[in-house]
Amino acid sequence: MRRPGIAAAVTAVGVLLAGCGSDDGDSGPELSVSGAYMPQPVSDSMAAGFLTIENGGGTEDELTSVTSDIAGAVTVHETVDSAMREVKNLAVPADGQVAFKSGGNHLMFEKLKRKPKQGDTVSVVLHFAEADPVTVEMPVKPATYTPATGH
Ligand code: CU
Repeated sequence: MRRPGIAAAVTAVGVLLAGCGSDDGDSGPELSVSGAYMPQPVSDSMAAGFLTIENGGGTEDELTSVTSDIAGAVTVHETVDSAMREVKNLAVPADGQVAFKSGGNHLMFEKLKRKPKQGDTVSVVLHFAEADPVTVEMPVKPATYTPATGH
């Protein structure tokens, strides 16, 4: 004996999928930045910066460029086998985060227009493929500063 309910159930699934497809995109990337700091640079021309980008949204985004009024250029570097390598587009996964930390990913400020000193604040703008730019006020810490790791 066959039950006619199956055809009705399949139709209901089709309606649900159509409902998903008509989503107007309000579940895009939701980015926030925490833990930003710059160790006071020892060099007159270059400085490093660290921060964590969190994405609370359901869509992946990409960090495409970084700008700062104190530097002629800011690049994203990753560290592989203790050698630095420039990264063009850095993925920020959906419901995930990207951490920049000493010995790993870092921002590289080049062609410094002035040398940041401990106590200064450096303004940095992060540009993304999807989300609006995020401005970060990055405090300058002592050259040897490392954030608490929570151990
Ligand atoms: Cu570097």
